[in-house]
Amino acid sequence: MSRQLTFLMCSPRGDKSASHSIGSYLVSLFEEKGIVVKTFGAYRTLKNQEKTEEMIKSVNDSDIILISSPLYIDQAPYMTIKLMDIISEAFQQGKLSNKTRHLFAISNAGFLEYYHNNITLKIYEQFAKQNDIIWAGGLPIGAAGTYAQYPIPEFLKMLEQLPEEDPRNEIYTKPTKILDSVIRSSVNHLSKGEIVPRDELKKLEFIPMPLESYVNGANNGWPQAAEEFGAKDKLRDKPYER
Ligand SMILES: Cc1cc2nc3c(=O)[nH]c(=O)nc-3n(C[C@H](O)[C@H](O)[C@H](O)COP(=O)(O)O)c2cc1C
Repeated sequence: MSRQLTFLMCSPRGDKSASHSIGSYLVSLFEEKGIVVKTFGAYRTLKNQEKTEEMIKSVNDSDIILISSPLYIDQAPYMTIKLMDIISEAFQQGKLSNKTRHLFAISNAGFLEYYHNNITLKIYEQFAKQNDIIWAGGLPIGAAGTYAQYPIPEFLKMLEQLPEEDPRNEIYTKPTKILDSVIRSSVNHLSKGEIVPRDELKKLEFIPMPLESYVNGANNGWPQAAEEFGAKDKLRDKPYER
């Protein structure tokens, strides 16, 4: 019988999100290995009782559970926590059979610092342990917004065209290649029923550009965004002061 994976896509931004982009990339690699994937968007699943039950049944039948979620205020968002609560409750009520299952998680942070994801990944680990699911590890992604804009395979193709001396090679090509190789290796291990070695995941523990460049980029982007909305001259307004 084919192995099965339940993909919990936990961003309210749907197809435009990093959680979707990176998670679906893993899903495509799992499918290449013959693993059957069932995907559940957190928002639609929580809104609909039938869909919630379908998700529980899928978890019951699955060998692998994949969570891909944004990081909100250094934490997993409400919907991700709610999904974990529902699954834990189903375990406690004996609705799920005894079976070897692995949990793998992707935590997507907007800031550069991958380590902002560490506490959330620990919480996913705890969720696994409480429910007798094997914690297989997680990807701490920094600057995840890049991958919401450009899915990894397409991004790598685009970056191939950069001249060798282009500084974007350091801040985009290098990190994306490392991320791609960690993802591929994770999928290989997980599809063989193995956890992902800690040393492999540790390869993501780096900051791809100086923090000042990131802050300067954001500071420059702010007036540009305001201009698009015709609000450039309103940035210093204090509407709360009459
Ligand atoms: C309400 C809210 C809180 C956020 N808090 C953080 C945060 O604490 N740290 C961080 O690095 N990014 C934070 N972000 C940015 C998101 O983590 C980032 O945009 C990420 O790519 C979202 O994932 P998604 O594209 O899958 O929705 C926050 C975004 C929102 C909307």
